[in-house]
Amino acid sequence: MKILVVGSGGREHAIIWKLKQSPRVEKIYCAPGNAGIGMDAELVDIGAMEFDKLVEFAKKNEIDLTVVGMDDPLVGGIVDKFEQAGLRVFGPRANAAIIEGSKAFSKELMKKYNIPTAAYSTFDNFDEAVEYVKKGDFPVVLKADGLALGKGVLICENEESALEGLKEIMVDKKFGDSGNKVVIEEFLEGPEMSVLSFCDGKTIVPMVSAQDHKRANDNDEGLNTGGMGTFSPSRVYTDELAKDCFEKIYKPTVDALNKEGRTFKGIIFFGLMLTKKGMRVIEYNCRFGDPETQVVLPRLKTDLLDIFEACVDGTLDKINVEWEENAAACVVLASGGYPVSYKKGYEITGLDEAKKLENTYIFHAGTAKKDGKFVTNGGRVLGITGVGKTLDEAIKTAYEGVKSVDFKDKHFRTDIGIKKY
Ligand code: AMP
Ligand code: GLY
Repeated sequence: MKILVVGSGGREHAIIWKLKQSPRVEKIYCAPGNAGIGMDAELVDIGAMEFDKLVEFAKKNEIDLTVVGMDDPLVGGIVDKFEQAGLRVFGPRANAAIIEGSKAFSKELMKKYNIPTAAYSTFDNFDEAVEYVKKGDFPVVLKADGLALGKGVLICENEESALEGLKEIMVDKKFGDSGNKVVIEEFLEGPEMSVLSFCDGKTIVPMVSAQDHKRANDNDEGLNTGGMGTFSPSRVYTDELAKDCFEKIYKPTVDALNKEGRTFKGIIFFGLMLTKKGMRVIEYNCRFGDPETQVVLPRLKTDLLDIFEACVDGTLDKINVEWEENAAACVVLASGGYPVSYKKGYEITGLDEAKKLENTYIFHAGTAKKDGKFVTNGGRVLGITGVGKTLDEAIKTAYEGVKSVDFKDKHFRTDIGIKKY
């Protein structure tokens, strides 16, 4: 089969790396991809939001299945476009991708169907939001309604910072139109975890759990980023919790979406927090996580193409999704200065040596090729995944890989997987 993957990050590299292991995969294209992905797939110079061009490419090249990795095109309706053109595509339609596209929508859905989440109110009027905040408790959590590159969430310790935050989101439009509405949420505390799941519209199959480290620096200091590293499994997500989540969160979410006429096919990503009162949904995403995918897929035994096709065909109940009894850790190598400002174009050395290391996988995110050499080309440059029998072994292996690769101003956290819980 010929596959087209849409996206350009470490997540898409991991998806492609896994798909390549399928004996039925004949050729993989990636639009637009990155230089590292170019070693495993043929790069196509079309942007992820150029739907018409992508459809044309898929038709012309007789693509059998398109897999969309990124949130923007999914929320923007890429799947609808492909389906209208009679093409096979893996991912939710826009009316289901809205679980990530609008936090106000997802909060309302959870409330209506009793899916546990933080208490909240939604406002599209700035003055009313201000009044609400003035009467409330602190800390308080402000969320721009729409997509904001994972940066539209502000945790405010006091009234002054909350009012400033509201102004940034709703008046200054720091996150653009995403801030036309704001969700104001109760502040929750507890360990967080990510559970991605395959879904064919009826059946939902959760993957092994993972935990992300979102802050830029060690000890969870510094700014929020897209994710500086992950490990799998989470240390707190027991089998018992998984069962409880299935009954109270996963299955009710799929059923709720069906009842609303928004059948979801693709990946539902549950961002969860284990509070003293039980598990709460922090957010939904409509796609694989980045860098969660880089630790989850290396643990998957089953053919990923079989699973994707079963999701598209509505036959996921016929597939036995199996996982290795092991662990994985991914350390992100970022450009110094990320997530604020950073330079690009520095030569990356040691990739060939790192590739030879056992149980180590290098997933490219922001890389380009210049004069035949790999150079940095983004904030998150590479994700280095180590796999081992135990988490400790996986973490050690990932950091061995980190040592071998170098570039100017290389920044990474030294405490991935080493958590207080
Ligand atoms: P999100 O983009 O919704 O995942 O939010 C980003 C991060 O903000 C989450 O990973 C949490 O660490 C934090 N967060 C979001 N909502 C809450 C909440 N209600 N209480 C405490 N922390 C939160
Ligand atoms: N790592 C978090 C996300 O993909 O949203």
